[in-house]
Amino acid sequence: MLSLSLFAFLFSCASASASEIMRRNTTACNNSPSLCSLSYGEITHLGAHDSPFVRDASTDYSDFGNQYYNTTVQLSAGVRLVTGQVHKSDNEWHLCHSDCTYLDAGTLESWLSEIKAWLDDNPNDVVTVLLVNSDDATDSELGAVFESANITDYAYTPSSTSAISSWPTLQELIDDGTRLMTFIASLSSNSNAAYLMDEFAYIWENPYDVTSASNFSCLPDRPSTVSGDTAAALSSNRLPFMNHFLDQDIGLGIQEPDVSAIDTTNGQNGTGNLLTSADTCKSAYSGRQPTFILVDFFDKGPAIDVVDKLNNVTDATGRVAVPDTNKEDDSGSTTTSSGTYVGLTELVDDVKSGANPSVGNWIWVGGDWGSILGGGITF
Ligand SMILES: *[C@@H]1O[C@H](CO)[C@@H](O)[C@H](O)[C@H]1NC(C)=O
Ligand SMILES: *[C@@H]1O[C@H](CO)[C@@H](O)[C@H](O)[C@H]1NC(C)=O
Ligand SMILES: *[C@@H]1O[C@H](CO)[C@@H](O)[C@H](O)[C@H]1NC(C)=O
Ligand SMILES: *[C@@H]1O[C@H](CO)[C@@H](O)[C@H](O)[C@H]1NC(C)=O
Ligand SMILES: *[C@@H]1O[C@H](CO)[C@@H](O)[C@H](O)[C@H]1NC(C)=O
Ligand SMILES: *[C@@H]1O[C@H](CO)[C@@H](O)[C@H](O)[C@H]1NC(C)=O
Repeated sequence: MLSLSLFAFLFSCASASASEIMRRNTTACNNSPSLCSLSYGEITHLGAHDSPFVRDASTDYSDFGNQYYNTTVQLSAGVRLVTGQVHKSDNEWHLCHSDCTYLDAGTLESWLSEIKAWLDDNPNDVVTVLLVNSDDATDSELGAVFESANITDYAYTPSSTSAISSWPTLQELIDDGTRLMTFIASLSSNSNAAYLMDEFAYIWENPYDVTSASNFSCLPDRPSTVSGDTAAALSSNRLPFMNHFLDQDIGLGIQEPDVSAIDTTNGQNGTGNLLTSADTCKSAYSGRQPTFILVDFFDKGPAIDVVDKLNNVTDATGRVAVPDTNKEDDSGSTTTSSGTYVGLTELVDDVKSGANPSVGNWIWVGGDWGSILGGGITF
């Protein structure tokens, strides 16, 4: 029975001696040792669609938000691709959803600095940024913002300006310190910032404007040179990018995420579920798994479970559960193939109310994962 001893443990663990604590496995790459030796292009990266556009107290739960938690929380929970739209506002480059009057998530520089800080703190992780270049910023303009955010040292520069047949492994990217992959949709020239990769030179995508759960499609949509032609897309060596988010028409041609269907859309059963869609696309691509899967409200489903399945990951390590502080997303614990992860708030609430948190769950305390046992927590 967990009781006061759990509290005592929770609040004293920061001073626990090194011998009592088994540190998380630092040999993992993107949360799993099994991924280190695999090519960046051969594994599946979970993507948070419109990562900086958050539906939480800070935006008054804006309908223009596509995620419940910010980019730092997303990355810590296992997201490895973050997308956003860059717009020009007051002569600065901002991240805005459709238009800066709808949802302005601040400057691109501030967001890149947030990602830079996360990369500093997580030396075994490779992160991909995809920016929609809504107001046609040049490579020099974007490059200047990347410089100001002091993130260019991490940026990977491709060996070619066209599709690459063999990308480095995660371990190679980690060893080289080039753990930031940057794609821009689109960029006419990158001669002043070679690490800014023109998205559709390297990637092809399936359709994204889906408003019916039965209408998800694996067919290539962009770039137009491979549209509708899976064989051409595959043989072009571009990376398969699977959009998987469901919108609903709310009239006047405006679409917003279909939140009511999100558990199915990001889940593993029901019409339009993520697992079936991913498996269907993998088959359609002759066994090639999508390199990227892009979802709204990434913590629902949870989408990461499907990505773990595609990556054959059963030993995920170092993930931090979402904090369970969003009143519109109070699902609490997150269950993945490697266990159930609970937030501290939820655990404390459980203990206060006399409930016994499930034995075998994991919790992140003081920088380490702890496993909840019958009488307390072990690290
Ligand atoms: C860390 O991962 C390596 C490689 O899979 C494994 O051999 C080792 O036992 C792991 N260490 C811990 C402490 O889990
Ligand atoms: C992200 O969200 C978490 C949890 O709400 C918060 O603690 C943190 O300060 C936020 N980070 C940024 C950079 O906004
Ligand atoms: C920029 O980041 C590097 C590490 O990536 C760090 O060593 C350096 O101090 C940073 N520079 C500034 C001005 O913050
Ligand atoms: C679903 O796809 C079909 C065939 O492409 C199309 O005719 C139909 O309009 C789509 N339905 C919706 C709601 O988008
Ligand atoms: C649907 O999937 C969830 C987990 O994602 C599982 O708990 C549930 O049992 C499944 N339902 C059916 C009918 O398979
Ligand atoms: C996972 O296993 C499947 C089935 O063996 C295989 O097709 C796929 O390439 C593997 N993926 C990774 C990332 O290891």
